[in-house]
Amino acid sequence: MSSRFPNITFGPRSLLYSFRMAKSHYQAPRGTRDILPAEAEKWRAILTAFADLASRFGYGQVVSPIFEDVGVFLRLGENTEIVSKEMFTFQDKDPKTPQSLALRPELTASICRAFAQHRPTTPWKVWYEGPQFRYEKPQAGRFRQFVQVGAEIIGENDPAADVEIISLAWRFYESVGLKNISLLLNTLGDSETREIYNRELYSYLLDKSDELSDESKNTLKKNPLRVLDSKREEDRQVISDAPTIQEFLNPEDKAHFDLVCDGLDSVKIPFSITPRLVRGLDYYTRTTFEFVANDLQTAQNAVGGGGRYDGLVEELGGPPTQGIGFALGVDRILLACESEGVKLDYRKPLDAFVVDLTGGSHATQIADELRHYGLKVDRSFGDRSMKSQMKVADRSGALYAIIIGDDELEDNEVTLRDLRGDGDQVRVSRSDIVSGWLDIVKGRNSE
Ligand code: HAM
Repeated sequence: MSSRFPNITFGPRSLLYSFRMAKSHYQAPRGTRDILPAEAEKWRAILTAFADLASRFGYGQVVSPIFEDVGVFLRLGENTEIVSKEMFTFQDKDPKTPQSLALRPELTASICRAFAQHRPTTPWKVWYEGPQFRYEKPQAGRFRQFVQVGAEIIGENDPAADVEIISLAWRFYESVGLKNISLLLNTLGDSETREIYNRELYSYLLDKSDELSDESKNTLKKNPLRVLDSKREEDRQVISDAPTIQEFLNPEDKAHFDLVCDGLDSVKIPFSITPRLVRGLDYYTRTTFEFVANDLQTAQNAVGGGGRYDGLVEELGGPPTQGIGFALGVDRILLACESEGVKLDYRKPLDAFVVDLTGGSHATQIADELRHYGLKVDRSFGDRSMKSQMKVADRSGALYAIIIGDDELEDNEVTLRDLRGDGDQVRVSRSDIVSGWLDIVKGRNSE
């Protein structure tokens, strides 16, 4: 292949050639993906619905850094998979303040760190949204970068706070249109109860370790509770005969849990008490819960989860403070919407598409004017033919085309063509476009 540039060839062995070839082979990293405009509209719909609902419940948004000192996340439990295997960590570049940082794998620890740092008045009711990062083995519904929305109430022990948090998540699924979601509810008791239970469970499982799978024998050494999460056939019998946390609850734990159940009954939120519900994080005390999308046919059907973490703020340097919250996986909620046939296309069509056959400067002005009045308007670029601009206008889904050619320009008018009906068109004065348009919109709204 010859080149216009001396000394540079584009032959198969040249550096430039391989650079160009390599470039075209770049893909989003494993476990991540691009959300393109049509899908991004659905994301925006979900995120907006959550922001609206959280604010109706009296929660304010917190935007915290995407990376934190790794120590913040070690509080999730050194033996949890998130901490031991899945964290994206890196060193700060400043040699004077060597610090290990990590991309956040979840937001509860960051929120507690922010609470300990700023000491706002309690109860601190906050919500958040954003990407989280876990180095997991990618599969359907499981990504290395995924988006959560969530809410936390910090500094409140009242079981009514547990009920409110769960209701917020439940009403959110309802508002999105999801119908086949189950709420699994459990309590782990306070930290003392949990410790006693952990010891009992450990000695029970150690006794039966001959009957356990190799994986569960390994898990047992690190975190006996997580053995209960095993789906392996050989572990099933041992797990179903294992002691449950319920047998170890103290009267305060029981009273708290009963009030949470009564509260959920009172607002008619159905739940199943699931004594073997295990969450993948170690900070939980008392109430824990998970939301499962029954129509999701994949192993990853938990669309949200949360619970109480009454010791986390203190561990992060704050005063003894209770907390409860949840996070919902937006990627999985979208998959659940797909499998339930929930239509999330909240896209409002374009009001108009401006076709300018006079060079483009009129399209710039007309689009600017109409956008200023709140209309949704697009236009084409470049000096293209009427046919090609009309093709783009049609593809855009706009309700009307506003056409300006030499004739229209001479008469100081534009042609308005109905793109969705029978193609009717009228000429209107250039100065009447905005008022005429607002009449059309008014008429449409009163239909
Ligand atoms: P989590 O159960 O680890 O809890 O995550 C909550 C939700 O995030 C999951 O139910 C799932 O929908 C979604 N999720 C988790 N990992 C992935 C992944 N790899 N790919 C796609 N989606 C995923 C927490 O994160 C806690 N911070 C929840 C919480 C808030 N507890 C108290 N407050």
